[in-house]
Amino acid sequence: MSIKRTKIVDLLKGEQIGQNVCVKGWVRTRRGNKNVQFVALNDGSTIKNVQIVCDLSKFSEDELRPITTGSSLCVEGALVESQGKGQTCEIQADKITVYGTADPETYPLQKKGHTLEFLREKAHLRPRTNTFGAVLRIRHTLAFAVHKFFNDKGFFYLNTPLITASDCEGAGAMFQVTTLDLNNLPRTEEGKIDYEQDFFGKQTSLTVSGQLEGELGATALGAIYTFGPTFRAENSNTPRHLSEFWMIEPEMAFYEIADNMDLAEEFIKYCISYALENARDDIEFLAQMYDNELIDRLNFVVNNEFVRLSYTDGIKILEESGKKFEFPVSWGVDLQSEHERYLVEQHFKKPVILTDYPKEIKAFYMKLNDDGKTVRAMDVLFPKIGEIIGGSQREENYDKLLQRIEELNIPMKDMWWYLDTRRFGTVPHSGFGLGFERLILFVTGMTNIRDVIPFPRTPKNADF
Ligand code: 4AD
Ligand code: MG
Repeated sequence: MSIKRTKIVDLLKGEQIGQNVCVKGWVRTRRGNKNVQFVALNDGSTIKNVQIVCDLSKFSEDELRPITTGSSLCVEGALVESQGKGQTCEIQADKITVYGTADPETYPLQKKGHTLEFLREKAHLRPRTNTFGAVLRIRHTLAFAVHKFFNDKGFFYLNTPLITASDCEGAGAMFQVTTLDLNNLPRTEEGKIDYEQDFFGKQTSLTVSGQLEGELGATALGAIYTFGPTFRAENSNTPRHLSEFWMIEPEMAFYEIADNMDLAEEFIKYCISYALENARDDIEFLAQMYDNELIDRLNFVVNNEFVRLSYTDGIKILEESGKKFEFPVSWGVDLQSEHERYLVEQHFKKPVILTDYPKEIKAFYMKLNDDGKTVRAMDVLFPKIGEIIGGSQREENYDKLLQRIEELNIPMKDMWWYLDTRRFGTVPHSGFGLGFERLILFVTGMTNIRDVIPFPRTPKNADF
């Protein structure tokens, strides 16, 4: 009878020493001499490999020849204490079955280190590398932390639609969804495209945010969060923008802006602590490979209060800094990454929550302050990342919200259902959106957002 397979993460706990075990995985390296060969096997369950010792009195050269980097194996043998450094135990192989070979001439991931740029072109195989294995396990751990945090707080996970007829952020950067024949578009009498003949009977797009529907959930269930993909057709080719990214959007009835800030800070700190505890090996690996200040930086954020500052005071600091920015600053301008990073990395050396932005540079749904000029917005700015969270208290007053919608020429026929929340039992409420990949960038210390999502979508790139 064959032995039940053990995952390497469990095997390395050493509890089965002295027993016969079975492992399955992919070969990272094979080395040795004519008496004994050592195979490093990885099955993705941990950054660590298990060492397979192949005594050449038991295996012929012919049997070992197909065991090359990238090939897949089933190995049975005794688990014994290891003499080698850096490992507790190893397997003395009795039986090896090769599931699939990997031709050394053509398999792209040979043992030597590859650049991240090279690996982006091999995104179908890069999860098999140490770096991407670590990043993807950390990504999973953070996703789990998100659900645990909100579930423990009594928030409900709400699934908002991906196909929508409204533009939440009002930025117009949406991907259209249509089944119309682009080579033969139906026209109205005025010569416009006749969307009544389209699949949904109206013009639709992929959502840029689940917030508007999230507000419907919050004003019924009290506190909800979304966690799903969002889509932005902005032509931003930066290390921090994706065309398809994942966002977490909590929305809470009876929360004012200060409650919203408290929640955002607690949430981010929780996720980072959770990863430090539950993805330690992977974080340590990335720290050692790419960024030896990573763990200190993560601990620093967890252990220090975020600075809270108004946009107006932030602009003053930037103006008085004497620094020459590529984009000049003055009250009213939208902050660029260089400004955000100056505040966070040079001035305060801490995460900053910037609040009360001019209404002109923020979305229509934010609550107007008494000054009539600023809105109750809050952006959380992080070292190395810039904006990691954007949120606000929402305008709960029907007339004020309507006025803003009219000022911005947002088509009313698409918005009636949103306005109904303000017509029937309106309440103060707030929420925010955390860019999941920006959080993963921070926790992994990676520097390009294309390296923290399995298959990145960016302008001119939708491969894999
Ligand atoms: O600031 P944003 O646009 O806010 C909203 O969408 C609100 N509806 C959120 C809310 O209040 N419920 O986006 C929120 C966050 C940003 O702070 C950033 O972390 C991330 O989403 N983000 C992106 N991440 C990757 N690629 C992009 N193109 C992103 N655009 C925004
Ligand atoms: Mg924003």
